[in-house]
Amino acid sequence: MSLRIAHLSDTHFGCENAAAAEGAVEAVWRFRPSLVVVTGDITLDGRRREFAAARDWLARLPQPLLATPGNHDTPTWNLGLRAAAPFWRFRRYIGPAEPPCVRIPGLVACALNTARGAQARLDWSLGAADPAAAARVVAVMAEAGDLLKVVACHHPLVEVEGAKVASGVRGGVAVARKLAEAGVDLILSGHLHTPFARAFGAEGASAHLCGAGTLSRRTRGAPAGYSAIEADGRQISVTALGWTGSRFEPFRTWIFDRGALTRAAAPTA
Ligand SMILES: [Fe+2]
Repeated sequence: MSLRIAHLSDTHFGCENAAAAEGAVEAVWRFRPSLVVVTGDITLDGRRREFAAARDWLARLPQPLLATPGNHDTPTWNLGLRAAAPFWRFRRYIGPAEPPCVRIPGLVACALNTARGAQARLDWSLGAADPAAAARVVAVMAEAGDLLKVVACHHPLVEVEGAKVASGVRGGVAVARKLAEAGVDLILSGHLHTPFARAFGAEGASAHLCGAGTLSRRTRGAPAGYSAIEADGRQISVTALGWTGSRFEPFRTWIFDRGALTRAAAPTA
């Protein structure tokens, strides 16, 4: 069975690329995805009006939809709220910061929130992986048998070579290793505003980390865009689509051999 995932990220409502965001709604419907994944930074500064615009845009996308917050989805300028309840507005307008896993025929997808409102380091925009939350996701994936296994987080769990920004996820490498050992196929992320794909792990216990670009005006060396993912029992293809100003066109494509990725890591059902 062929599965399709539309992977959108970093819309940054407040600084969105309005034409690209609008075009993405139509293009994603035409893609007929099994699942839509939105990997955070849905707003620019976590303001109420930005969340309201994001909520209205998300409501126009196909379902099911799995969304996880990014560091920009905490209230940038309301320091008290950012420290005390960083995801209060995300919950109010979008949904839980740790939503339930999505299970559809052939696929299971879980979110792992790597964003933080405050941290014991100067750059609070960097990521962190909570071990208990990660363990819950690993447990779901380890029981998922031959399903396509997808994890969504905002920050790439592992630093991406050549990236213009760091993700700095505390505990990220260890979590990525556990996810790979649990047979996860795809670890989807945003944050970089540039699409990428890279393998991670060891022979027999590897996953692919795939980042979508941005649908905002904050581009970093790649056009505004999103990723269209297609998977069957044998292969996964990831196509980064770039906005030309009037339509989306393929920007770059990666193709993985799914069997080689999951063969030894898949648990017995
Ligand atoms: Fe972003």
